[in-house]
Amino acid sequence: MTGKRILLIIGGGIAAYKSLDLIRRLRERGARVRCILTKAGHEFVTPLSVGALCGERAFTDLFDPQSEFDVGHIRLARDTDLVIVAPATADLIAKMAGGHADDLASAILLATEKTVLIAPAMNPAMWAHAATRRNIALLKADGVRMVGPNTGEMAESGESGTGRMAEPLEIADAALRILNASSAHAEKPLAGKRLLITSGPTHEPIDPVRYIANRSSGKQGHAIAAAAAQAGADVVLVSGPVHLPDPAAVKTVHVTTAHEMMLAVKENLPADVAIFAAAVADWGIGEPGTQKIKKTTSGAPRLTLTENPDILATVAQLKSGRPRLVIGFAAETEKVIDHAKEKLERKGCDWIVANDVSPESGVMGGDRNTVHLVAAGGVESWPPQSKDDVARSLIARVAAALKESRT
Ligand code: C5P
Repeated sequence: MTGKRILLIIGGGIAAYKSLDLIRRLRERGARVRCILTKAGHEFVTPLSVGALCGERAFTDLFDPQSEFDVGHIRLARDTDLVIVAPATADLIAKMAGGHADDLASAILLATEKTVLIAPAMNPAMWAHAATRRNIALLKADGVRMVGPNTGEMAESGESGTGRMAEPLEIADAALRILNASSAHAEKPLAGKRLLITSGPTHEPIDPVRYIANRSSGKQGHAIAAAAAQAGADVVLVSGPVHLPDPAAVKTVHVTTAHEMMLAVKENLPADVAIFAAAVADWGIGEPGTQKIKKTTSGAPRLTLTENPDILATVAQLKSGRPRLVIGFAAETEKVIDHAKEKLERKGCDWIVANDVSPESGVMGGDRNTVHLVAAGGVESWPPQSKDDVARSLIARVAAALKESRT
């Protein structure tokens, strides 16, 4: 949120005291906060306390000649990245739905072209009333975003139900998500770039019903494909068998065996960047049974393993048409960095993303990951984070590397 401008409209409700904390939470996240107090909002918090927390004076009345002279309500509405209404009272919501503009807050809400996030707060009976339901439906149809209201005890003694304003942290998080999504939309650092990504395990058939597999879930590779698409790249994801939906805006090619994965990768080259996150089986069965192998009294069948093609090494060592950046993964259960360095050399790729997949790490199938980015220039250890965050960080690094190699 660093440097983002937020216009916070504080309506007149008992929950207005929480908006003072919200100002702090937003500023902690690097936002610049400007506040408007409605006339009713005045009754609950003072312009002085609001102004002190924002670091600039609070705006109050449409016909305040001073504020019109300083900024003007149209500029207040435009010079912002997000408008938050907290608490959004039943009255303010009705005014928004009706398009009123008889005070500073409602005039700004009508004049702004920016996203508006409301945090409703009112008595449960008012929240449940047909008029409020209608107004909320209208606002949603207009694209207004909403956080809360929550269910629980109300400020009035003995009252409980749905109508409590969302907590400041929830509102700050909702604001952060909206701002991040819009900046991700605005910034497409990989626009025009083609990325080829592998993900998931491979299954190597023993016979038509049995196979050799591994515990890869595909979560990390799929998250990378999604992050690359969000960054504007043209993405082909070659996926082994996983229980995950195909990521949005990604061309997903489904394969089963390592040989099929190799073929699909070759068919989808050339690419600017190739990221091999799949846990490809190192060996397949030489001659899988064409019929189900029967249990016999003469003992267990002998299975002959044959080596699978190494997709990463093949692509990294292409003489012509090699992607500018070839990235491999190293899932290790011990000496993670040493093995990754050795792998970088042996496979001929540019980076290795190394992670500890020992059973204690919980990485296999889990949602979190601790990785080390290993390149010829050195090793960078990243803090533990979600697989989505690892994906976003990796894609940001890819975009930076492509930019650097161009200049
Ligand atoms: O050699 P190892 O399997 O540990 O190497 C892991 C890296 O190599 C991963 O990036 C994986 O996707 C890739 N790999 C591959 N084809 C194979 C084996 C591994 O692309 N047959």
